Amino acid sequence: MATIDSVRESIAGADSLVVLTGAGVSAESGVPTFRGTDGLWRKHNATELATPEAFEKDPLLVWEWYAWRRDLIRGVSPNPGHHAIVELEKRAKEFSLITQNVDGLHSMAGSINVVEMHGSIWKVRCTACGVESVDREVFGELPPRCACGGLLRPGVVWFGESLDADVIGKAFGAAKGASVMLVVGTSSVVQPAASLGAVARDAGAYVVEINIEETPMHGVADAHLTGRAGEVLPALL
Ligand code: OAD
Repeated sequence: MATIDSVRESIAGADSLVVLTGAGVSAESGVPTFRGTDGLWRKHNATELATPEAFEKDPLLVWEWYAWRRDLIRGVSPNPGHHAIVELEKRAKEFSLITQNVDGLHSMAGSINVVEMHGSIWKVRCTACGVESVDREVFGELPPRCACGGLLRPGVVWFGESLDADVIGKAFGAAKGASVMLVVGTSSVVQPAASLGAVARDAGAYVVEINIEETPMHGVADAHLTGRAGEVLPALL
């Protein structure tokens, strides 16, 4: 069985460390996860809020939901898990952080090489002219409009949408080149992120899952550390 000590040693000897994160990493900051007991998808219907069809049908409803999440995330801070990942990056020979989170907390903590697979809740994109910008402001009126008059949409990836090709390339490239991969706080059910652990393992990486519960990564990862990201990650330093 893997111990914190053995995983710490593997990380220290790694030529390339890759960390893949999900909502569980931000849970201790107070950002709700999607699928846990208090998960967002337990109370809200994803198809009515996080699909292109939902936005087309009712942009105001979708924006009210994103404005609510933006307000919530605006009030939270990175936790010891985010900070430990920053430190892992500083110490690693080569490092990539791939996150499914849209909250921006990794960058706020100081992580540098971050691939945001599902976009950012702080980005907006015009559905008419296509211009993308970062906007942390509270919107006066919903749904917000671009300077060109077009409807703005959140700069996140919705269900049924393809990920940016460049993002896919970076994420899978990092996974294939990893000597150690930490898969932290994700239910590993949403593709393509859910495949990255297996891709890394098949390319020879030592894959370690850090989670409070068992996930489909159970049969994939070489090692499992059961516990909260905000406690296990700092213990790996
Ligand atoms: P989920 O909500 O599906 O899973 C969160 C995972 O974090 C679960 O496996 C929990 O057991 C674990 N967890 C909770 N608290 C933790 C803690 N303190 N420490 C460690 N683990 C903890 O979130 P994701 O896997 O990130 O996509 O979800 C993937 C995608 O599904 C999201 O990016 C989002 C969502 O629908 C889109 O919106 C496109």
